[in-house]
Amino acid sequence: MYKVLARKYRPSKLSEVVGQPVAVTILKNAIKTGKLHHAMLFYGPMGTGKTSLARIVAKSLNCDNGPTIEPCGTCEACQAISLGKDVDVVEIDGASNRKIENARNIIESVKYPPLKRRFKIYIIDEVHMFTLEAFNAMLKTIEEPPSYVKFIFATTAIEKVPDTILSRCQILYLKKIPEAEISKKLLFISQSENIKIEEDAINLIAFASNGSLRVAEGFLDRCISFKPYGTITKDDVSRVIGVPTREIVKEYINEILTNSEKEALKIINQLSGNSINLDTFNRIVIEELLKQDISLETRTALLNIFYQSLVDIKQKINPQDALIVATYKAKAAIKLDKIENLIEKVQSGSFSISNSSEAKKKLKNLETTEKGSLQENLNKNSDSESKVDLILKTFGGKIINIEKIND
Ligand SMILES: Nc1ncnc2c1ncn2[C@@H]1O[C@H](COP(=O)(O)OP(=O)(O)OP(=O)(O)O)[C@@H](O)[C@H]1O
Ligand SMILES: [Mg+2]
Ligand SMILES: [Zn+2]
Repeated sequence: MYKVLARKYRPSKLSEVVGQPVAVTILKNAIKTGKLHHAMLFYGPMGTGKTSLARIVAKSLNCDNGPTIEPCGTCEACQAISLGKDVDVVEIDGASNRKIENARNIIESVKYPPLKRRFKIYIIDEVHMFTLEAFNAMLKTIEEPPSYVKFIFATTAIEKVPDTILSRCQILYLKKIPEAEISKKLLFISQSENIKIEEDAINLIAFASNGSLRVAEGFLDRCISFKPYGTITKDDVSRVIGVPTREIVKEYINEILTNSEKEALKIINQLSGNSINLDTFNRIVIEELLKQDISLETRTALLNIFYQSLVDIKQKINPQDALIVATYKAKAAIKLDKIENLIEKVQSGSFSISNSSEAKKKLKNLETTEKGSLQENLNKNSDSESKVDLILKTFGGKIINIEKIND
């Protein structure tokens, strides 16, 4: 039977856990010294190792040769726990067992010592789904369980867990896994599975998975189904998982910075039509904005806008809509920024034009044809808006680079 990569490559001991050095070190030390907290809560984004770590802790504590940080993996306890079928390691899905009755069942069963193992371990996944009543019912038990009981809670939404629960737990944060670590693991899997895949392709998967190793392994699965025999390339990955290339992102930003919003909108619509993941697109836009040579004001304004669209997409607003709105906002922000800069310079009295010869020529033309320098004309106009108009008119509607005041 074919087993998906994410399951086949679930880490089975602490040394196999990728990209979580802090959590792993804390757990290692606690297991070694026998000081593991009786209630732990693992939180962090999806596919970063919460459930895996919970099972590893259970094995470490209950392995026939333990407690040990290197559970053997072959004894009866290790095998049963790996399959999620051990009598004394109870895995509970918090989403479907969220009511007070479910909590009461747990509290009741805590009273009975383990049947076969050292510890009775409750792994409660998605614990944030518990009702408030269920949480409250559990408080006392979580605070002072019998010495043979350990609770391990896992959640992606710690903010939904009441403080009264949090304050009774040791909390471990599992962070997004760095791209380089994901690439390394994907390379290892490809080699073990005899899969031919280019390095660029692996890196693109790692990037697109946004810190989740499970997502990355799922992407690799899809690419393998798409191309079981030949070498998987970057373009294959782009097509199969719908991740945009960096080039198209750069083109989009360039359109926003220099031209009308029309072309930028065209790009968004095209990507959407080709089923390219717009959430990933948005994330690359932010990355690229951080690298662009633009003013602090423009950068801040654009980052704000694209962080907002990222949040909107996360909150299930149609990604295409979110990015269309962001495109308009970005364009408006740039216009506003340029005009504000101009006003500021005009109000400060005098200015000179950028050294470009084209600019000088235009200024010269103006001086001869309009009887008087631009500067004089500006001095005559009192309100700054008409000054801006004048400058815009002078330079054919295009704002050119106005440099240091040095008249
Ligand atoms: N830190 C990690 N080290 C190694 N493999 C990992 C790690 N995190 C995730 N994986 C891979 O992803 C799969 C799923 O991981 P796991 O079930 O532990 O994630 P999770 O954090 O519980 O996710 P969710 O929040 O969606 O329940 C594992 O079987 C493994 O293949
Ligand atoms: Mg999980
Ligand atoms: Zn064992």
